[in-house]
Amino acid sequence: MKKMWDDRYAEDGFAYGSEPNVYFKECIDTIELKKSILLPAEGEGRNAVYAASVGWDVTAFDISSEGREKAIQLAEVHGVKFNYEVKDFEEIYFNRAFDCVAFIYTHFTTEKKYLFFDKMLDALKPGGWVIFECFSVNNLSFRDKNPKIGGPENPNMLYSIVELQTIFMGYKIINLTEDLVTLNEGKYHNGEGCVIRLFAQKPIP
Ligand SMILES: C[S@@+](CC[C@H](N)C(=O)[O-])C[C@H]1O[C@@H](n2cnc3c(N)ncnc32)[C@H](O)[C@@H]1O
Repeated sequence: MKKMWDDRYAEDGFAYGSEPNVYFKECIDTIELKKSILLPAEGEGRNAVYAASVGWDVTAFDISSEGREKAIQLAEVHGVKFNYEVKDFEEIYFNRAFDCVAFIYTHFTTEKKYLFFDKMLDALKPGGWVIFECFSVNNLSFRDKNPKIGGPENPNMLYSIVELQTIFMGYKIINLTEDLVTLNEGKYHNGEGCVIRLFAQKPIP
């Protein structure tokens, strides 16, 4: 798995583009107090660079060392800095909590998915924000017609509204939608597809 991502990120250019994900930008731009943000599985740093450039204190990680290399290059071009660790999510531990966590195309198999969310959401402060955009199970028919849209083939790695309602039970949901989108994100997310989007706030006990 790591090799697959390292190979992809060793190619020329940015696999998912160098601009932030549109929904990530839309959500984060509405948050007035720009404090700390965690970006798990951040790849080549497009969202980390944007968040840092508008004043967030960014912590990112990814299993791919090639992804980190590209992210650091992109950060240098934009004159921003952030903390980016090369780690499998199963091995990462945080010694702080964050004000926001964003899940942008973070796809794992069923047995890893819930461990992943438990761990990342444990690191979110009460009242903290969640931004999420990943492929829906309904993306499969779009992928059949247009493989360039990308996204996992394995339905267990995809998401549904009901699954998000379960993972984020008790959260204040500002938006939870399944959207048809036209992606223009590098060479690996291109054309019409179907995504699940969530913007939510962790409850304050
Ligand atoms: C589709 S890419 C999305 C990258 C980035 N979030 C973006 O939207 O540009 C999925 C990312 O998950 C990372 N990844 C896969 N398995 C991982 C794991 N076990 N721990 C940490 N990162 C992982 C990959 O290296 C890859 O960068």
